[in-house]
Amino acid sequence: MQRLQDRVAVITGAGSGIGLATARRFAEEGARVVCADVDEEAGVKAANEVGGLFVKADVTDEDDVARMFRTAFDTYGSVDIAFNNAGISPPDDDSILETGIDAWRRVQEVNLTSVYLCCKHAIPYMQRQGKGSIINTASFVAVMGSATSQISYTASKGGVLAMSRELGVQFAREGIRVNALCPGPVNTPLLQELFAKDPERAQRRLVHIPVGRFAEASEIAAAVAFLASDDASFITGSEFLVDGGISGAYVTPL
Ligand SMILES: NC(=O)c1ccc[n+]([C@@H]2O[C@H](COP(=O)([O-])OP(=O)(O)OC[C@H]3O[C@@H](n4cnc5c(N)ncnc54)[C@H](O)[C@@H]3O)[C@@H](O)[C@H]2O)c1
Repeated sequence: MQRLQDRVAVITGAGSGIGLATARRFAEEGARVVCADVDEEAGVKAANEVGGLFVKADVTDEDDVARMFRTAFDTYGSVDIAFNNAGISPPDDDSILETGIDAWRRVQEVNLTSVYLCCKHAIPYMQRQGKGSIINTASFVAVMGSATSQISYTASKGGVLAMSRELGVQFAREGIRVNALCPGPVNTPLLQELFAKDPERAQRRLVHIPVGRFAEASEIAAAVAFLASDDASFITGSEFLVDGGISGAYVTPL
């Protein structure tokens, strides 16, 4: 499929995980991909692999974010897709009783303020074009509670969800779609390592997933490519769940 032929896509956090898988998928579908990451080595590697452009950017820094979209526009002539995806989930963000104000603020900055900055700086390009698709990465924890809490992470993703909905409504008649992507847990190296050490911890989570496994990053990327493309032309302001059925489940299959 070449649904994204010649579209210009900016991806934050493109050096790893969901961002990297999406950079690959976007490029396969014909897009020109701008790979932004704070990690220069990973970002350069991703950009080289997909024949795109690397921009070093810390998504919490407004000047960096403005430069990232300007570079995309100056190099390729438009900003058609913004996948605002970079995020963190550090171990010092835990139960509300344990989490200090520094961890709380750091996670809010990287996960939520970054999405505000990226939307603020992407939308004017899209307004001038009369067209654009923004996908902001939230999480299934934005719609469900967890007893194994990461309180600032969860609150930040709830913020991403509400902000995306509002922007989707506000800019709908200007041809700009804004959706919140809500992935379920993804099979990442970090997750694998954690659960190899502690199978009970893995089982406690797997039991809630009707599909019976974690997602592959490429499966999340496929949903992002759909939302980015004109196939999703009537989808905006949505909480787009890609969660293997977790959020719909009461009793799961044995
Ligand atoms: N992995 C999961 O199970 C899962 C589930 C739901 C939602 N998500 C969300 O998906 C997104 C991507 O997650 P992932 O698992 O692919 O993560 P990852 O850690 O594999 O990749 C995140 C990338 O973001 C970059 N990054 C971190 N801080 C940055 C900053 N300040 N500026 C620019 N880049 C920065 C990192 O360098 C890294 O390359 C995150 O928003 C995460 O919260 C992940």
